[in-house]
Amino acid sequence: MAKQGLSTLSLHAGQKADPTTGARAVPIYQTTSYVFKSTEHAANLFALKEFGNIYTRLMNPTTDVFEQRIAAIEGGTGALAVASGQSAITYALLSITRLGDEIVSANNLYGGTYQLFNNTLPKLGRTVKFVDSGNPDAFKRAITPKTRAIYAETIGNPKLDVPDFEALAKIAHDAGIPFVVDNTVGVGLVKRSISAPIFSRIPRPSTSAATAPRWAASSSTPAASNGTTGSFRNSPSRIQATTASCTGTR
Ligand SMILES: Cc1ncc(COP(=O)(O)O)c(C=O)c1O
Repeated sequence: MAKQGLSTLSLHAGQKADPTTGARAVPIYQTTSYVFKSTEHAANLFALKEFGNIYTRLMNPTTDVFEQRIAAIEGGTGALAVASGQSAITYALLSITRLGDEIVSANNLYGGTYQLFNNTLPKLGRTVKFVDSGNPDAFKRAITPKTRAIYAETIGNPKLDVPDFEALAKIAHDAGIPFVVDNTVGVGLVKRSISAPIFSRIPRPSTSAATAPRWAASSSTPAASNGTTGSFRNSPSRIQATTASCTGTR
C-alpha cells in the first residue's frame, strides 16, 4: 500500500472497518469488562503471556484506535491515551521518577503545567527546576545525579517559541536521561516529535543498579494496549505527552 499521508492517518490509522457491518465510524465500546474464553485464557491475559482486553481502565478497543492513530500520526511505537493533558504529563513523569528525584524543565510552560510542576509535583517529592527555555546550557548546568528527565514544549504556550531541540536532545542523551516533550501545539501535523531523529536517537542509559531509574532496571514488558506493542511504555527514551490530542477522548 502507498505510504499514507498525515491527513489519511488522522482519519483512518488504527481502525479496521467492521468486517461484518462495514461500519465506517469507530464503535464506542461502553464496556468495563471483557469475557474470557476460559480460565486459562484469563490466566494468560493477566500474566501478560497473551495480548487481549482485560479491563477498560487498562485497555478499551475504542481508546485503542485513538492510541494507534496518535502513534501513527506522531511516528511513535505506541501511545497511551488519558483524559487530559495534565494526566498525560503526570503519568509520564511519575512513571520515571520517585521521591527525591528532579526534573529540569523549560520555563516557558502552559500555565496548567507550570502549576503542576511548581505546586503539585513538589508535594509528591519531585523537584522541578525551571530554566530559560532558550538557553540549552542552562538545562545542562541544572542537571544533577538526581535528575531523571528534561522537559519542554515543542511550541511553547503562550509564547509560541521553539527551543533548540537538537541541543536539548543531546544534553539529555549525554546525561542518559529521557527528553519528555509536550507536543500539544504541534500535535504531529506540525512537528512529528517522536519520530524526529533527535528523539529516536536518545538511547536507554547504562546506569548502575544503584542509581538506575526504575524503568532502566525493569526488564519486563508491561501490558500492551490492544494490538500495540508493549515496548513504548517501557521505552522512556521516547516519552511524549501529546496532550491536546488526548483531551476529551475518554
Ligand atoms: C502546552 C499545553 N499542554 C497541555 C495543555 C492542556 O492540558 P489539559 O488538558 O490538562 O488542560 C494545553 C492546553 O492548552 C497546552 O497548551
